[in-house]
Amino acid sequence: MPAHHRIQKLIQTAQAVFAKSSSSTSSSSSSSSSSSSTQARRPRLVNADGQPGLKNLIELVDGMTAQDLGLDRSPSLQSPVSMSAIRAGSMGASGAPITYIDIFEDPTVSIGIFIIHTGQCIPLHNHPEMTGILKCLHGQIDLISYTNLSGEDLNRVKVPSDLDPECRLWLRQGLVFPTRREIARGISPQSPPCCLSPVEGNYHELHSVGGPAAFLDILSPPYSQSNGSPHSEEEDEESRRDCDFFDVLMRGPLAAQDPSISWLQFMDPPPDYFCYREDYLGPPVNF
Ligand SMILES: [Fe+2]
Repeated sequence: MPAHHRIQKLIQTAQAVFAKSSSSTSSSSSSSSSSSSTQARRPRLVNADGQPGLKNLIELVDGMTAQDLGLDRSPSLQSPVSMSAIRAGSMGASGAPITYIDIFEDPTVSIGIFIIHTGQCIPLHNHPEMTGILKCLHGQIDLISYTNLSGEDLNRVKVPSDLDPECRLWLRQGLVFPTRREIARGISPQSPPCCLSPVEGNYHELHSVGGPAAFLDILSPPYSQSNGSPHSEEEDEESRRDCDFFDVLMRGPLAAQDPSISWLQFMDPPPDYFCYREDYLGPPVNF
């Protein structure tokens, strides 16, 4: 199948798969906490057993290459000269550590490409109530993810009695919370797609290894738009999907309590993290 047919087919399949699953998302996510302890303990391929549409989507994502999506012509990935210009500010990017290429977005799904430049990372963040499928297209990426504790795992967590009042307040407010660190994964273009579900591995960070790297990113539903979006008026504060950033507590009574638990803390967006937007240079998509 020619590349322009494949990207078109991928978008249509993603729309169909996630439109079907969105009506059952709330019920499945509310029951998922009780079954999370029996699920796989690390980011994994989507379990597409018994879901032919999802299996088909995963196969289409797996078949995508950098060339199929025009990434072999991306100035910021392919041309050191252009990248120098970007870093010098002459292309307006002011040396962004990340480049984002938007391919498609509607209220059901967003599809794009992230380029993580040499030595850079996408810091620890979440996809609230969202499913993410990612496929490495270029270079090597280290994916580190964390799963929110729930059910029995959460009940077993001991909070030290000598915790200072400020930290105790953060705990009560949900600004500090316990997670399980999943097995870090090294992914390359030869690796199968990874899935970060609304429950498993939803908190994650991605690092380029040994040079620039790029991955195809499919999110459903997309993040809420900040302003002027057609769906922002329909969303109350509770249902908005904003990207939050986190830090792992490395010291203090909580961090010292149980080495199998990673305590995450909300943090402001890192000031040195921002994206440069580049045009999509792959086959045109028509909708
Ligand atoms: Fe992400």
